[in-house]
Amino acid sequence: MPFPGHRPRRLRTTPAMRRLVAETSLEPRHLVLPMFVADGIAEPREIGSMPGVVQHTRDSLRRAADDAVRAGVGGLMLFGIPREDDKDPLGSAGVDPDGILNVALRDLAADLGDATVLMADTCLDEFTDHGHCGIVDADGRVDNDATNHRYVELAVAQANAGAHVVSPSGMMDGQVAAIRNGLDAEGLTDTAVLAYAAKFASGFYGPFREAVASSLQGDRRTYQQNPGNAREAIHEVDLDVDEGADIIMVKPAMAYLDVLRAAADVSPVPVAAYQVSGEYSMISAAAAHGWIDLKTVVLETLTGIRRAGGDIVLTYWAVDVARWLS
Ligand code: PBG
Repeated sequence: MPFPGHRPRRLRTTPAMRRLVAETSLEPRHLVLPMFVADGIAEPREIGSMPGVVQHTRDSLRRAADDAVRAGVGGLMLFGIPREDDKDPLGSAGVDPDGILNVALRDLAADLGDATVLMADTCLDEFTDHGHCGIVDADGRVDNDATNHRYVELAVAQANAGAHVVSPSGMMDGQVAAIRNGLDAEGLTDTAVLAYAAKFASGFYGPFREAVASSLQGDRRTYQQNPGNAREAIHEVDLDVDEGADIIMVKPAMAYLDVLRAAADVSPVPVAAYQVSGEYSMISAAAAHGWIDLKTVVLETLTGIRRAGGDIVLTYWAVDVARWLS
């Protein structure tokens, strides 16, 4: 149609008009806050590469979790950091009911009950002395099926400690089916599984490795996906849905929005996306230099993730954003 036919700017004239025609919503309930809790520290410890994010003590975690729930976030995702001497090849501190992640889950379950959705990272890398997400065999390879056995033990321990959702993030084949069967066998049929279905071997996890004091040497490319593989990501999503995943996740977010869109188009279950540590650090650093405006860029990235199909977004800014939005 020739100009002056349609004038889209009419729908941008006032804040009320823009609000009326907004296609994508971002609400506190969509956001999940990842939190770190460390064993054997007396005070919360700053994470240098993630300004504003800390490793919590058990007590500071309880206060911060309470604040987050009051701010209206949709859920909390908990990561545990054992003492260095408690790390071993099998990640025993993760399975131990008295291990840091499990005691912290118990604390939060007691404090918060069903007022939030309590999620746990179901992975071995924080607990192993070699830093891999699984059990390493005599030849140095991550043994898929031995790892799945361990994931079942982790998931059962986390569910018994009060997690509403267990979140296998190690990208082993069959991990969702193994965990679902293992939970059901223990009568834990109400515990949901959030599957990190399409998780890429990403440089954007760099700051997280500092956050959890990872012992990893090398990389995770035998289990995490090649960043170029979108078709394979959808295959992973299909497998996890067939295996019984209740929620699937794409990770990282910003460099994988096409994968997120494709996953959202095929998934019959809710889709989560993780704005990971490196995304947080990058935006924080640019904002600290005054090169970009933090609030504008954070809201823009989260809106983009929602627009691309993320029903649920994990972000280290969850509480800040919840406050900005209310
Ligand atoms: C594995 C796990 C990782 C992250 C979440 N779960 C690290 C990895 O796969 O190396 C990364 C999260 C982030 O970077 O914010 N337990």
